[in-house]
Amino acid sequence: MKKAFIFDLDGVIVDTAKYHFLAWQNLATSLEISFSEEQNEQLKGVSRVRSLEKILEWGGKTISEERFTKLMSEKNEEYLNYISRMDTSEILPDVPRILDYLISKEQGVALGSASKNARIILEKVELYDKFHSIVDGTNVSKAKPDPEVFLIGAEALGVSPENCVVFEDSVAGIQAANSANMISIGIGNPSVLHEADYIFKDFTEIKEEFIDTLVTTQKV
Ligand code: BG6
Ligand code: MG
Repeated sequence: MKKAFIFDLDGVIVDTAKYHFLAWQNLATSLEISFSEEQNEQLKGVSRVRSLEKILEWGGKTISEERFTKLMSEKNEEYLNYISRMDTSEILPDVPRILDYLISKEQGVALGSASKNARIILEKVELYDKFHSIVDGTNVSKAKPDPEVFLIGAEALGVSPENCVVFEDSVAGIQAANSANMISIGIGNPSVLHEADYIFKDFTEIKEEFIDTLVTTQKV
């Protein structure tokens, strides 16, 4: 049976979560807002606009629309500077093994990312051609935890939501997968991702046999 396996990008396929963190931290410091790793956890999977809104809320600051737009573009410039130096060494462990296994089993493979930079990153790490469908921040109007990004991915592959599996490192992304009625697999810290159907530290813990069971399982 053909299933769709939908991958988040930042923190699942590549270790870019650290670059988002650095850029947001520098922005918060410039606004004299303190910004912790715990707060950063709440920004994972969250759109650029919503992330800046949250940082301002935490700092109790209000700024003009013009400054808001300028800060967002400065943050993105810094982020783009980090990712311009990326290469295949920044692919997270065993991601190619899992992608290649799914492709060998003729399963649908899609990207479901909030990032507007997703396509550039996939090209930099030479994984672009592994995906049958790419849905990113340029294709959606509602940010995770809204399920839109995953539902568009499922539709593009012609697979119903209960036959989809989502790999995510963020709380917002796991919530999005659950509300799309898809099997959610957390990649990362179990105490953060406890709402997921399954949780693994990283892809090295995921065996081919587990993928085989997912191919024959539906979300209930
Ligand atoms: C998500 C990241 O994948 O993309 C978030 O987890 C980020 O941290 C969001 O804010 C938007 O990304 P970008 O690259 O369009 O700013
Ligand atoms: Mg992520």
